[in-house]
Amino acid sequence: MGEPVSRPPLPFLPYGRQDVDQADIDAVTAVLRGDWLTQGPTVEAFERALCERTGADHAVSCANGTAALHLATLALGLGPGDAVVVPSVTFLATANAARYVGAEVAFADVDPETGLMGPEQAEAAMERAARAGWRVRALAPVHFAGQTADMAGLGTLAARHGLAVIEDACHAIGSVDVTPDGPPLPVGSGAFGTLTAFSFHPVKTIAAGEGGAVTTNDAELAARLRRFRNHGMEREPAEFEDHGAAFATDGTANPWYYEMAEPGFNYRLTDIHSALALSQLARLECFVERRRHLMDLYAERLAPLAPLVRPAARVPWCRPAWHLCAVRIDFAAAGRTRAQVMADLRARGIGSQVHYIPVHRQPYWQKRCGRLSLPGADAHYARTLSLPLYPAMADSDVDRVVGALAETLGLPSCNPP
Ligand SMILES: Cc1ncc(COP(=O)(O)O)c(C=O)c1O
Repeated sequence: MGEPVSRPPLPFLPYGRQDVDQADIDAVTAVLRGDWLTQGPTVEAFERALCERTGADHAVSCANGTAALHLATLALGLGPGDAVVVPSVTFLATANAARYVGAEVAFADVDPETGLMGPEQAEAAMERAARAGWRVRALAPVHFAGQTADMAGLGTLAARHGLAVIEDACHAIGSVDVTPDGPPLPVGSGAFGTLTAFSFHPVKTIAAGEGGAVTTNDAELAARLRRFRNHGMEREPAEFEDHGAAFATDGTANPWYYEMAEPGFNYRLTDIHSALALSQLARLECFVERRRHLMDLYAERLAPLAPLVRPAARVPWCRPAWHLCAVRIDFAAAGRTRAQVMADLRARGIGSQVHYIPVHRQPYWQKRCGRLSLPGADAHYARTLSLPLYPAMADSDVDRVVGALAETLGLPSCNPP
């Protein structure tokens, strides 16, 4: 008998991961060899590049996506008695950003097929908020998995009620809204949102390590974002209130002088992180194309597994930069729990994740808001599973994932054509 053939194990496929190349490493190294490690020229270069990419007038970088959302609620001056409408299918941070400034959260339901909040769901949340005696000041739609919420519809609703719109685009750098007659509108352009928040966490479409940004077309809001990002410090003489302290007798501004009108935070992004983000931004189109290709391949390969497994429904108004491959699985009909499926996939070297446990189900929010009935969010949660999606995946990796999923669910494995 011959020796058993031992094959090297296949590499583990996480549900998401960064793609760092030599140009990214060189960009970071160049900063490390330079004079500025934080808030130097690379931060400014990244902010300019983000304006060019999104079409926004202003981009204010910050420490992470959570800080971006917090800065947005601070800049809008939200506080106790105010409320923000937040879809329940999101990461904790979207809702927390309202609480950081003392505002309440009116949780909205979502479409169970896409995970997106639409105008009807937002309006129902506004009515609930009004009954609770809260003053709704903002909508915070989340562009789940890279698909945008119906911004035309939500924008109309916001305009009708005089609300600000904070777009949580932490999943959606590179996504584009398409309108029937108008030009394509990159997420963050400010065409719909008063403020748009981005995250550059490593599982997102571009990575900074940790990083975030807010874009806006409102110069005053941009100035407030910058001030809150840096302790509330004001260095612009035109903004000084205490003229006696700020200016010398000849009217020139004292060079050491700064003022604080309201306390802020240290939410600054560093030049090191900006160097990585800037280099990655230059590769955004390649990332987006590859992610779209992989998602199309998933749709094709998953088709024979219907109706037990279905790719997320696609919305007509968006050309998405897919962040997640969140598929819908009828675990009950398959006779497997989600935990079993995840464990089986892991045993086959495949990572998966659940996006998200509806935020209104968190103990903190149940104590604060009572037990809300949001059936769309619950139905989304019951069936969602995020499969591996990142640019370095090979086409054959999609076959491997779909084959493993089929086996796990007891379905006949489908061979690629
Ligand atoms: C929808 C959404 N909002 C906000 C955040 C917070 O971003 P960060 O992790 O950069 O703070 C995330 C990150 O996971 C997210 O997915």
